[in-house]
Amino acid sequence: MPDRSSLAATGSAVVFGASGAIGRALVARLVESGRFGAVHAGTRGPTTDLPVGAIPFRFDLGDEASIKEAARMVEAPELVMVATGLLHDEARQIAPEKSWRAIDGSAMAEVFAANAIGPALIAKHFLPLLPRDRRAVFAVLSARVGSIGDNRLGGWHSYRASKAALNMLVRNFAIELARSHPQALAVALHPGTVDSRLSAPFQRGVAPEKLFSPDQAAGHLLDVLPALDPADSGGLFAWDGTRLPE
Ligand SMILES: NC(=O)c1ccc[n+]([C@@H]2O[C@H](COP(=O)([O-])OP(=O)(O)OC[C@H]3O[C@@H](n4cnc5c(N)ncnc54)[C@H](OP(=O)(O)O)[C@@H]3O)[C@@H](O)[C@H]2O)c1
Repeated sequence: MPDRSSLAATGSAVVFGASGAIGRALVARLVESGRFGAVHAGTRGPTTDLPVGAIPFRFDLGDEASIKEAARMVEAPELVMVATGLLHDEARQIAPEKSWRAIDGSAMAEVFAANAIGPALIAKHFLPLLPRDRRAVFAVLSARVGSIGDNRLGGWHSYRASKAALNMLVRNFAIELARSHPQALAVALHPGTVDSRLSAPFQRGVAPEKLFSPDQAAGHLLDVLPALDPADSGGLFAWDGTRLPE
């Protein structure tokens, strides 16, 4: 086994979506770990609640210039995690569809913009920054429901399809990344069901032991990454390290 304890003794980590439940918990754990010289925490709005020690920056998934600007502040990040996502937003009349009858073009476009296009723009500006001479990880939070092979239930058309698109983008990026960065990985992660704004309306029926706290989820995800090899790049991995069908 290669020694990964030196994964990022002095390098930097970047988390997009640090105002979200899982994103904030990831930032907290990364800062606490002391493994990184700098932990950059990106939020859409002003936040006063970031873990002490994190370096804040602002971005909006719908504003490529803000992502490009964010890329100017980090040099050779060894870990980039995209913890943004959109499932529902009452104010914008976005809700997971139970049937094709509920599909609304503009709501679907917003879900795709947040879950697939935004992360793709982050990849566009951050993958080239990964160091070429050592291990580096670009990880996006996807979802098991975005697995086409695993889909038995149907429904949630926009969210599922946007996450499936994200999984495909990650596979594409992994292929392209391997040409210039042989030690780097691009992976999609499923955090399990996690207590957050995103999952709040859908937690009924989830057994308590299957509903993770954001801190537990962050711990699981950060445990999965060191076990992955460049050969795993492009895959979708669950919180317990299991590889899911894309
Ligand atoms: N929670 C679960 O059970 C679960 C299960 C499977 C997968 N996931 C995935 O895990 C990820 C994190 O989810 P979470 O549960 O932590 O949700 P959350 O608490 O709702 O966090 C979502 C994050 O995305 C950010 N975001 C949304 N649209 C944005 C935009 N246009 N520009 C910048 N930031 C934007 C939010 O920023 P604001 O604070 O500014 O809105 C927030 O930081 C998502 O990709 C989700 O699909 C979650």
